[in-house]
Amino acid sequence: MPDMKTPLLGFLTTVIAISAGAPDWQLPCDLRETSHGSVCVCNSTYCDYLEPPQLTDISQIVVISSSKDGLRFKKTTGDLSKKKPITIDDKQFTDENFKADAIVVDQERAWLQLANIPQSLFINASIKTYRIFVKREQSFQNVSIFGGAFTGTVSYLLKELPVELQDHVYRSYFHPVGIAYNTIRMSIGGSDFDMEPWAYNELPLHDPKLSNFTELDPRDLQKVEQLKRLKIIGKVDSLKIMGAAWSAPTWMKSNNRWTGFGQLKSEYYQTWALYHLKFLELMRSKNMPIWAISTGNEPLNGVIGFFFVHFMSMGWTPWQQAIWLNDNLGPTIRNSAESKVLIFGNDDQRYTYPTWFRKMRSSRNNSLNYLDGLAVHWYWDELIGPQLIDQAHTDMPNKLLLNTESCIGDKPWQTHGPELGSWQRGESYMRAYTQDLTHNFNGWLDWNLVLDEQGGPNYVKNFVDAPIIVNATSRSEIYKQPIFYAIGHFSKFLPPDSVRIETRIENQSNPFTQLSVVGFQRPDGSVALIIYNGQNLPVDVTLDDSQRGAIQLRLPPRSWHTVLYK
Ligand SMILES: *[C@@H]1O[C@H](CO)[C@@H](O)[C@H](O)[C@H]1NC(C)=O
Ligand SMILES: *[C@@H]1O[C@H](CO)[C@@H](O)[C@H](O)[C@H]1NC(C)=O
Ligand SMILES: *[C@@H]1O[C@H](CO)[C@@H](O)[C@H](O)[C@H]1NC(C)=O
Ligand SMILES: *[C@@H]1O[C@H](CO)[C@@H](O)[C@H](O)[C@H]1NC(C)=O
Ligand SMILES: *[C@@H]1O[C@H](CO)[C@@H](O)[C@H](O)[C@H]1NC(C)=O
Ligand SMILES: *[C@@H]1O[C@H](CO)[C@@H](O)[C@H](O)[C@H]1NC(C)=O
Ligand SMILES: *[C@@H]1O[C@H](CO)[C@@H](O)[C@H](O)[C@H]1NC(C)=O
Repeated sequence: MPDMKTPLLGFLTTVIAISAGAPDWQLPCDLRETSHGSVCVCNSTYCDYLEPPQLTDISQIVVISSSKDGLRFKKTTGDLSKKKPITIDDKQFTDENFKADAIVVDQERAWLQLANIPQSLFINASIKTYRIFVKREQSFQNVSIFGGAFTGTVSYLLKELPVELQDHVYRSYFHPVGIAYNTIRMSIGGSDFDMEPWAYNELPLHDPKLSNFTELDPRDLQKVEQLKRLKIIGKVDSLKIMGAAWSAPTWMKSNNRWTGFGQLKSEYYQTWALYHLKFLELMRSKNMPIWAISTGNEPLNGVIGFFFVHFMSMGWTPWQQAIWLNDNLGPTIRNSAESKVLIFGNDDQRYTYPTWFRKMRSSRNNSLNYLDGLAVHWYWDELIGPQLIDQAHTDMPNKLLLNTESCIGDKPWQTHGPELGSWQRGESYMRAYTQDLTHNFNGWLDWNLVLDEQGGPNYVKNFVDAPIIVNATSRSEIYKQPIFYAIGHFSKFLPPDSVRIETRIENQSNPFTQLSVVGFQRPDGSVALIIYNGQNLPVDVTLDDSQRGAIQLRLPPRSWHTVLYK
């Protein structure tokens, strides 16, 4: 149903879709200019969706495109048998507000038009052609896990919205017409994105048997109700839930505080393992079983990070954590009815790799056997290269590798909170997902699914950005940012068990190319390539596929594409 842009038709489609029970959710983005770019606006009756494209025959190619100029998941269909170049047209937006810095003047050359610079200084550059080799025979890791975090803040904000908008959040993230997430991360107890720090069994004090941890917290029960709705609206039959604890109740800790330099007292090591098991059992009793846990969120915050981290955290050194994992958590989980729950290690920044695990091994040589996966947060990735991850993967090639947290706005030099509509922030995600997925990652979990206009709320005024911002003032709109589409260019088009295949850009050694690609073979045999053009100029791309030969594409400036063909 193309170009259903008129409000009345859009509204009618939604109404008809609901009443007919056979929803056709395909509606284009309602683009609005914002402080830092543009967002797609959803309200109770309107939200943009795209049916997952079906490749009907061998000669078909489908390109899904987003651009700084205003494309959002725009679908272009081509016929490979015609051997004609496929041009992604981003000229549909005539509004000057949505113009990027470059315009094509003819077939061969492009203008680089910089704002407020006189005509005579325009750069008249030729359009470069890049060759991308796609070698399907060379395959790498599977990619199956995409999601975000259902924090206390997310739960709180969603509850403030009308149910139709809550549903648009769930559908936008989880449904195949949205970006098809299949996993969420949630805290065991509180996190930094809650209204206050909290844990189970805060009272009574000094209670190693956790006699007062017999049921979930009301905040969990609210999340469970919301997740039930999420599963129905998002059509996720088996939602994967990953749990991670930020801190034990204060009485278990050396400093008796939520934050600061503090560790678990060794007399409570077994209690802390039991605490995790109880959480797993209680979540299962609510029909919301946990798929995986980590050994704890960002363990170095309570050892070296406490100078700048002021939220709930609990310190571990790798030596201590290996002892707890090997002697307490590992055996407790594996000898229980929850033995199938996966355990991920580290759950901290990239710069701790691979040393963290090597130190663990040096203190308990079998401790790593309890780990099914390695979890890493992306926050310092732009300064620390992926080689550290490669080393950890070489040490432990059979463990799942996941990014388990990401957001922008945490650094002193960044805007703390959303830069509404920022294309640059979307590009940071594009580069990061592309890099990790070319370094053996099996998936990525982003941080808060939604935040308010300030990037909160939470008890530490820790304000950051999120892919979807809710208008907590009017409670009648949500804003899908470029970050949302950046993630979606991967998650929506890579069904579970997609496998990465080799792709290579000719002359990629040039770091200023600002063109990247990562490729996958999907379970149905089709190829999905995610291509990023970071230049202010259009580029011509020749795909050289090992089975299909050459495919020509012209991509607009500052744009992302998911290219699908058989
Ligand atoms: C919701 O958005 C649609 C599309 O922009 C618009 O036509 C409609 O008036 C909006 N509804 C409300 C209640 O604002
Ligand atoms: C751009 O440069 C080419 C080659 O130098 C020239 O032929 C063409 O006229 C120029 N285009 C514009 C619009 O100035
Ligand atoms: C790639 O490198 C080769 C050899 O250095 C050169 O001839 C070719 O023009 C380059 N191609 C591009 C697109 O830069
Ligand atoms: C158990 O925890 C609740 C709070 O969840 C608290 O109100 C109550 O006092 C605790 N019971 C005991 C015996 O400490
Ligand atoms: C692991 O450590 C145990 C206890 O220190 C020791 O007995 C065992 O030999 C070690 N195993 C290996 C493979 O190093
Ligand atoms: C995906 O890769 C992980 C990590 O190598 C592996 O444990 C898992 O079995 C793989 N899954 C499939 C379906 O191949
Ligand atoms: C939220 O809604 C209010 C009321 O409609 C509006 O004034 C405000 O600009 C909106 N916020 C954003 C970020 O668009």
